[in-house]
Amino acid sequence: MARLNPVFVCGSCGGETLKWQGQCPLCGDWNSLEQRTSARAARPAAAAAVGAGLKPASHAPATGERLESGHGELDRVLGGGIVAGSVILLGGEPGIGKSTLFLQVAAHVGATRPVVYASGEESVAQVQLRAQRLGLTAASLSVVCETDLPAILALAGDKNAALLIIDSIQTLQSGLAGAGAGAITQLRECTADLVRYAKTTGCAVVIVGHVTKEGAIAGPRLLEHLVDSVLYFQSEAGSRYRIVRATKNRFGAVNELGFFAMTGTGLKEVKNPGAIFLARAPEPAAGSIVTVTREGGRPLLIELQALVDRMRFGAPRRIAQGLDANRLAMLLAAANRHAQVALQEHDVFVNVVGGIEIGETAADMPVIIALASSLADRVVPASLVAFGEIGLTGEVRPVAYGDERLREACAQGFKVAIVPRDNAPRRAPEGLRVVPVGRISEALEAALGPRSGEG
Ligand code: TYD
Ligand code: MG
Repeated sequence: MARLNPVFVCGSCGGETLKWQGQCPLCGDWNSLEQRTSARAARPAAAAAVGAGLKPASHAPATGERLESGHGELDRVLGGGIVAGSVILLGGEPGIGKSTLFLQVAAHVGATRPVVYASGEESVAQVQLRAQRLGLTAASLSVVCETDLPAILALAGDKNAALLIIDSIQTLQSGLAGAGAGAITQLRECTADLVRYAKTTGCAVVIVGHVTKEGAIAGPRLLEHLVDSVLYFQSEAGSRYRIVRATKNRFGAVNELGFFAMTGTGLKEVKNPGAIFLARAPEPAAGSIVTVTREGGRPLLIELQALVDRMRFGAPRRIAQGLDANRLAMLLAAANRHAQVALQEHDVFVNVVGGIEIGETAADMPVIIALASSLADRVVPASLVAFGEIGLTGEVRPVAYGDERLREACAQGFKVAIVPRDNAPRRAPEGLRVVPVGRISEALEAALGPRSGEG
């Protein structure tokens, strides 16, 4: 028989090495290697144990069918609903509303199809209390407080569940490997068993996972590559709005966003999120401007803030929150060369309000306007929006969906829009004055008025 060497598994990348090291040789993470005790050898027997007696659930939806979650926003993110036999991993910080959302989903699906909701964190009484508070009733929803995976799978099999929700993966025990709940090996074994269960029975599985300090689901890539879809639940501190984002989706697009608001009676979807991130200060302040970005296939009005401050010592700092730092560096150079916005001796901070990440170039022009506004201490009118890409030669370039952005800005009550010349519509929306610009300098003049000499 082959001798079994201990294998060390990296908690971050899932790579394996034969000997322990302080740093994973594959991904470079420190202290992430953990010994896996001959789980390999236990594998075939374990597979038989879990796989034994599995038959396609008769109530389970046919392959390719999608279950409606009861929340259009969530269905959108998933590409049109929960695909039968798919495995979805949902990550998010504690208290953000993962259990609330999926209890609501469980109740919705459970009205017509058998659903098992396995909670390892709350007692059945607690879950029921919450369901009562949310006014949820479901004829075929089974709530269990169970952390033993084989027992959960047996129950799901018994009930012919169409949807199985695991809350959370960190509390599960597979009963196979020697490690305790939450250990890397356990996470992997449990997830692999759940995937196998989903694929053989056609039951859709939702796995709730806590995120680490760094914001990744514990044992990040390790679990992410096993499942079909990875969703993240995010919010800004103190905000009641929640965003669901797909970072991986085998059955849909990955850049869709779903918007929810946490209310006294659970999560409600926000169907028209155009302006939910606009909570501007009552007094307009220098360095702030509103732009229309397109996130998840919809126009979204977002406030950008810039602060420039004379550098005290060392190298100037460039901090971008919600924007690509390299893009910011490029914009600073373009602003300096083509509009005399000189910030070489300044610390520069740019922030996208609302915890949104802007991944498109339409925020270029407003970022430069915000920088110039902060530098000159001149206020951009509160009723003004701007969008447009900036090229290296200082030209303002058009962006996609210009008309749609203008319509949204108009619908939200904005009065003036500074846009790339090629985005200027033949007829502007009623009540919105469109100012087409071709160069950075024109954009600055349109937003801040003529330069008064200082810089
Ligand atoms: P929860 O779903 O338990 O979060 P997670 O599972 O991600 O840890 O959400 C708990 C928070 O949501 C808690 O702070 C209270 C709040 N909440 C509401 O505001 N309204 C509600 O109807 C419910 C059920 C929870
Ligand atoms: Mg929870």
